[in-house]
Formats: sequence, structure tokens, C-alpha cells
Amino acid sequence: MAYSLEEFCDDAREILRVEDNHAGRDRVRQKLEELLEDEAFRRAHVSADSEPGLKQIFEDDDTGFCVLAYNMEAPRTSPPHDHGGSWAVYGQVEGYTDMTIWAAPEGSDNIEPVREFRLKGGQAGLFDVREIHSINYTEGAKFVRVTGMDMAQETRRVFDPETGAVREIEHVGTGSA
Ligand SMILES: [Fe+2]
Repeated sequence: MAYSLEEFCDDAREILRVEDNHAGRDRVRQKLEELLEDEAFRRAHVSADSEPGLKQIFEDDDTGFCVLAYNMEAPRTSPPHDHGGSWAVYGQVEGYTDMTIWAAPEGSDNIEPVREFRLKGGQAGLFDVREIHSINYTEGAKFVRVTGMDMAQETRRVFDPETGAVREIEHVGTGSA
């Protein structure tokens, strides 16, 4: 069944107006999986014809959520990071992304991997506010990311598990995942 970007954004807005919490964000994740099935959406934003790189394709004036399309050429492993005060939903279209969730065990300041999963084409995963994650995607990966706010304006934390160092990064733009 056809499900356009506009319909997705309308649904996400309605959900987040009422339920800007874990349950609501998980409903946005489910809606994103519906959007990933839509051929016209994929053709327009995440296809062989899409320009390489990332592009913001929607920003909601009302609740502030943003939708970005990623058409990546090179594979990449990100360091563990969060999105500051924002949640993020990643939806895979082409290739796959291995996701690792990190947390510091009780009594320790340094983070360790606690859960890993692979997002395959058609699947979307939610990282809630302050949930630390790293991503590792394949060459030619295509995915869609929805964040609760414009990440260009938000300070985020980036972690080095080797040393335990944490850096706060401001205004990184939409460039990193
Ligand atoms: Fe992220």
C-alpha cells in the first residue's frame, strides 16, 4: 500500500503531539518501516538515482522532528555517541547497519557494549534520548534517519571506550549518523 513521506510526517506529528515518549517514538519507528516499503518514496530519496551523501528531506515546524536521507558510498563505523536530548530512529533501505548499544556498568565510568543487532532492509530501530549507540554500515548503504529535533542545534556526546574519554560536540551539523 502506498504511504508517502507527507503521510508519514503527518502521522509522526500526530503521534508526537500526544506521546513524545518511548511508546510514541516506537510508533514513529513502526510508521517509518511502512514508509520504507513505499516504492515512490524510495525512488525519490534513497535510490540509485539519489545524490550521494545525506540530505534533510523534512523538518516539522510544529514538533521539530527532522527526516534525513542517507545515500552513502563508503562503509563507516561510527564511535559510540548519543544525540543529546534527541531520540533517533534509523530505517534501513539498502545494505545493512550493525548497531551496538553501550552503557557503563554499575560502579564504572566507562561504557561497554550491552546489545548488538543488525538492521536489514525494511527494518527500523529506535535509540531513545541519551541512549549510547554506535553504527557500522556497509558500502553503498542507504537509510533514513528521523530525529526529534534538528541535530545541527544540539550538543551530543561522543565516547572513546578505549580511554573512557567523553567529548561534547556542538553544532556538528547533520553530517554524522
Ligand atoms: Fe546516532
